[in-house]
Amino acid sequence: MPAMTAVDADDRARAGAGTPAEVVGPLVRGVGVLRRLTEAGGALSPSALERATGLARSTVDRITATLARMGYVRLDGRDVVLTPGVLELGNAYLAALRLPALLGAHADALADELDESVSLAVADGDGIRFIHQATRRRALSVSFRIGDLLPAERTAPGALFATEWTDGEWSRWRARRAQDPEGTAFRAAPPGPAAGDAEAAFAERVRRARRDGWALDDQLIEPGLVAVSVPVHDPDTGRPVCVASMVSHTSRHAAADLRTSLLPRLRTAVRAMEGALRTAPPPAPGPAPAGLAAWTTASKHELGRDFVESLARGLTVLTAFGEGRPALSPAEAARTTGLSRATARRALLTLDHLGLIAAHDEHAFTLTPRVLDLGFPPLARTSLPRLAEPHLRALAERLDEPAALAVLTPDRTEIQYTAGAGAGRVLTVRVTVGARLPAAATSLGRVLLADTDGPLPPGLAEVRAQGHALADEELESGLRSVAVPVRDRTGRAVAALNVATHAARRTLDDCAGTLLPALRETATHIERDLHTTSRFTHVPPT
Ligand code: PHB
Repeated sequence: MPAMTAVDADDRARAGAGTPAEVVGPLVRGVGVLRRLTEAGGALSPSALERATGLARSTVDRITATLARMGYVRLDGRDVVLTPGVLELGNAYLAALRLPALLGAHADALADELDESVSLAVADGDGIRFIHQATRRRALSVSFRIGDLLPAERTAPGALFATEWTDGEWSRWRARRAQDPEGTAFRAAPPGPAAGDAEAAFAERVRRARRDGWALDDQLIEPGLVAVSVPVHDPDTGRPVCVASMVSHTSRHAAADLRTSLLPRLRTAVRAMEGALRTAPPPAPGPAPAGLAAWTTASKHELGRDFVESLARGLTVLTAFGEGRPALSPAEAARTTGLSRATARRALLTLDHLGLIAAHDEHAFTLTPRVLDLGFPPLARTSLPRLAEPHLRALAERLDEPAALAVLTPDRTEIQYTAGAGAGRVLTVRVTVGARLPAAATSLGRVLLADTDGPLPPGLAEVRAQGHALADEELESGLRSVAVPVRDRTGRAVAALNVATHAARRTLDDCAGTLLPALRETATHIERDLHTTSRFTHVPPT
């Protein structure tokens, strides 16, 4: 028997409470598939999905075909793999919440200043869920990812949130502890001992948190991990909207010292965060998801009965939320997505049933932190090379030529390969990740050197104007390569993508006519993944 997950436990409780008649079955099953993939770390074979969901193979196949069409999964060999596109669902929650956008830079600055990790967490039932992480790369420390859920009683933020719990919330917490004493449902945390006095100890920490206005985690999650936390209050309601924490290790800070070592700076930063909430400009609603009707028709045409339309429509309703659209009525959700009001309403009721949205009344639905269960933890910590790799493999396979990704070294004299995919042929250019070459002699280096606002020498000015670079037998006789930039959300070239070939295999015309369009298309795909992922997470370029 696999351990029961938080989701299963909740789903059962909800099912026990009665399934509303209007619930859209395919949407429930599709969300189940996304949750199982997330719990598994991002990938499962179709037969493992069959076992994990209890669905028939044909149903699993139709759901994954639909999710693939939406850009949420891809089929990689035998596995169904979550793709960065799915992060648009959690992004909708984080954008609607606004806290990462308004407070994230303060958390990052504090982490830089003290060289310790800083996180922001919100309350989620009797757990806490991370919405921002400014993580230091350290050997000695676990760190959690955006979307990770931890049991309240084993964290410092949990004690602060519990100061606001009602009697009902305390009984729900006790019931959960009785059912799952080691907290195995919380996959992000190593299971903890079911200490006999855990309840009394937590109640005592909550009492102190109420008295002090801050809380301590002295190795509640893991030996060595210590944290100090302060709530961030909403300037209008005075209620805590999230908790800011500084996380350290006993090798650097003993828990008893955190009060004097880290707490004062954390408090100053939280005051600045509360100031940022007070002076926040009005939200700027982004564009609504466009062209859904045409897209749905085309998808049905292409996939036939493998396209589960009600699943696609239901998930699209999640993306109707966002900055400036934190609460929607069925009519507003319908208007934003182009769905009929009846369809939008059924989707909202189903998503409410699944715990992904909360109904405040008939006219106001909001997303819950649980939307982050749809892909965030496994995908929120990645790097540009990891994002690019499946695209490089597809490109190399399509052209039967090796493809590579590279960045400039800090002194801008060399390029360094960060990812590569080989071609099947024996006689081919080999890409070694980490290897360096002189920037000016490579197509990769030239597109990167050309990405500046300043004046450029003639050759690079031309590269900038045309958006690609060609190196023709400059590094080595017979070696020909074409490169294009990969741009971040701000438009800066953060890496370059190239394909290398042999002069005997491809004429210059062929390079321009065949390689270049394929490169451009691949760069667009990598950029789409990068822009979705980096909206609320830091994606290192190497
Ligand atoms: C964190 O990883 O940010 C963290 C962990 C445990 C806590 C607080 C914060 O108690």
